[in-house]
Amino acid sequence: MEKHTDNLMETITSLAKRRGFIYQGSEIYGGLAGTWDYGPLGVALKNNIKDSWRKKFVSSRHDMYEVDAAILMHPGVWQASGHVDTFTDPLVECTKCKKRVRGDHVGGNINARVPFEYIELKTKSLKEAAEKFPEWAEQDTWECPDCGTKNSFIDNPARQFNMMFSTKIGAVEDSASTVYLRPETAQGIFVNFKNVVDSFHPKLPFGIAQIGKAFRNEITPRDFIFRVREFEQMEIEYFIRPDDWQKYFEYFKDEMMEWIDSIGFDMTKVNELEVPKDDLAHYSERTVDFEFEYPFGRKELFGLAYRGSFDLNNHKLEYIDEEGGGKITPHVIEPSFGVDRALLALLVSAYKEDTSGEEVRPYLSFKPHIAPVICSVSPLLKNKPELVDKARIIYGTLKDEFGRVMWDDNGNIGKRYRRQDEIGTPWCIVVDFDTLEDDSVTIRDRDTGTQERIKIVELASYIKERLS
Ligand code: GAP
Repeated sequence: MEKHTDNLMETITSLAKRRGFIYQGSEIYGGLAGTWDYGPLGVALKNNIKDSWRKKFVSSRHDMYEVDAAILMHPGVWQASGHVDTFTDPLVECTKCKKRVRGDHVGGNINARVPFEYIELKTKSLKEAAEKFPEWAEQDTWECPDCGTKNSFIDNPARQFNMMFSTKIGAVEDSASTVYLRPETAQGIFVNFKNVVDSFHPKLPFGIAQIGKAFRNEITPRDFIFRVREFEQMEIEYFIRPDDWQKYFEYFKDEMMEWIDSIGFDMTKVNELEVPKDDLAHYSERTVDFEFEYPFGRKELFGLAYRGSFDLNNHKLEYIDEEGGGKITPHVIEPSFGVDRALLALLVSAYKEDTSGEEVRPYLSFKPHIAPVICSVSPLLKNKPELVDKARIIYGTLKDEFGRVMWDDNGNIGKRYRRQDEIGTPWCIVVDFDTLEDDSVTIRDRDTGTQERIKIVELASYIKERLS
């Protein structure tokens, strides 16, 4: 029996395309590197992730304000935030084929300690970096991923490549018209700090949250939707009195872990990494990365940073703390989540294969509140109007109640089950000839494949109980 888990990324990528979760961006024109389009089921899954996040971190709380800021922002924002000067990756070019790659990704040495220090060497060549860090240099795998030439990157000096996308605003093309697409949603929050304070007069501590797109001109986008050029973030900037930072850092660490668990990540694959001082981003005084064991290695999923007063100071923003007596610059705890990385980790966590039958049965074991489709409704035979009419009535009632309900009469019943298993639908409801006699239907469980008969009037409460 052939199993597909040996090459899990290939299996997941192909399932995601075939079943309408994720397609290559601009596919009919040969694709655009680092971009992916979400199909109907991908959109539903993303929405469920965002809804669950919003419920936990925004709408169920009394101290959180959500904003939706513009993607195009004034260049002064990125000067003040440090992104114009420091949001760079080292870029090296193959002397033979001119392929450009990230200096710290040469040799597949992505997570090694030394490349971070190499980044600090700024425009030095890999050769100079290697002399300084012999341990790193011992690798003999420095070959061009395109032409295969060995050590073809080593003599070229690395140059610092700014990852922000720029564009021109207005009809006049001069340097003053350059603007950037935001590389993080965080700055859209900071620039609205004063607006929110003036409109709502929140008391410390309080947070401002935002869900939205961010853009980074990654030198080497890779690993499906893991490292892309256009992605979505869910971020919170939580404003506190400076002395309280450790308390709230720990608090949000627990809250993040709780949410990660609640949406169905495989928790055995989740790891907390205390980022070493030398590797902290320019704004951070402490960062914990939440990592996930993806099929291509253990990689950053989300981050939690203590940004101190870095941003409010740089934007010259203050707060009048009536309780603390006078003007202060609040400090900031930042829980930062990537929607696309979350979605990929969910696909990896949920992908299962049932090998108990004659054929492998792949299925996605999403939790019901996260599954793109909660249940499907089918008539056993689509050419029997009495079954179709009855099934249509049930479908309409459940659709009104739950929204994410699919009508499915395509192919025989076995094919329908396989399709629903592959998209992670927890329950398949089938109307058969007995239904016409006893007002009961068959409801099949995705994970076990077992079927039970229940009364039509009990369907909604059956599902509701299991959704919560
Ligand atoms: N405001 C802080 C910030 O943006 P970051 O660690 O650079 O911090 C936060 O990004 C999160 O955004 C990451 O943990 C990841 O989930 C997501 N992310 C960052 N770059 C990404 C990329 N190129 N593709 C997909 N997701 C990305």
